[in-house]
Amino acid sequence: MKEQLKSIEERAREAVSAVTDLKALDELRVKLLGKKGELTAILKQMGKLSAEERPAMGQLANQVRSQLETMISDKTKALQEAAQNARLAAETIDITMPAKKPETGHLHPLKIVENEIREIFLGMGFSIADGPEVEYDYYNFEALNLPPDHPARDTQDTFYITDNILLRTQTSSVQVHVMETQKPPIRVISPGRVYRSDAVDATHSPLFHQVEGLVIDKGITMADLKGTLELLMQRLYGDDCKIRLRPHHFPFTEPSAEVDVMCFNCHGAGCRMCKNEGYIELLGAGMVHPWVLENSGIDSSVYSGFAFGLGLERIVMRRYQISDMRLLFENDVRFLEQFR
Ligand code: PHE
Repeated sequence: MKEQLKSIEERAREAVSAVTDLKALDELRVKLLGKKGELTAILKQMGKLSAEERPAMGQLANQVRSQLETMISDKTKALQEAAQNARLAAETIDITMPAKKPETGHLHPLKIVENEIREIFLGMGFSIADGPEVEYDYYNFEALNLPPDHPARDTQDTFYITDNILLRTQTSSVQVHVMETQKPPIRVISPGRVYRSDAVDATHSPLFHQVEGLVIDKGITMADLKGTLELLMQRLYGDDCKIRLRPHHFPFTEPSAEVDVMCFNCHGAGCRMCKNEGYIELLGAGMVHPWVLENSGIDSSVYSGFAFGLGLERIVMRRYQISDMRLLFENDVRFLEQFR
């Protein structure tokens, strides 16, 4: 029996060290120590021993059992550790690899330039006024000296909601709201959307943006208008930028002018971009018509003012050399991404 016990221990030692996975080790444990295992089988024979032999043999058997148990639990630990290490090695993350950034949005070029214009005017002491896009005929036309049968209405045909409610064709409507609610001195700009029933092409869109400007105080002259716009254009296009005023007609300003800006491409010499003019038309402006002042309750014998309305799309297209206005509205990411 002693030999049997010794032999179990020796064979177990070899078998345990040869095992390479936890499942096989567990099977081995059952084979050695289980109810039907080899050790149990030997212990069952203890009954046949004499009373003198039994205690020594029992002690030896217990020693062997605890040897086997220790062997197996050591091996279990070793195998578990090896498995853990293998998993860690397999799941290693390269923390030096650059991460994928989440896509974030950014401002549209129209908004970028609008914000710039806002900043420039805020710096000159202007405030920002807002007005409705769905407007009464009165504010969009009549109060601006365009009575119902005025021919200039044809050039600003729009989308009517009722006979006297329409989508505004110009931000000049905000001039009237401002004059009705504020007392001079007035210095406001009003950026916003306007609508005209124009067909879409490279330079037209039924929806576009204007920035209106209105200044009313005692002693305001055309020189103030020119100085203000010159500063705006120099901020937008560079200090050497020049502007040019050409006589024009708007029903709500007198005198009126169209304002051209020196072509940034040829600096006035004439090139393809400015169709050899050297200058590019950017906005309408003029001294607020006395009737318009009076209409809105401002005494035209005391106060005078200037107003202007610039097309934001044109400014943006000049700034970024965009040749087709549709790009600003189609929302093609390949285009928009360039303004990140
Ligand atoms: N509202 C005019 C337009 O849309 C521009 C303008 C504004 C002209 C203010 C003079 C004064 O064409």
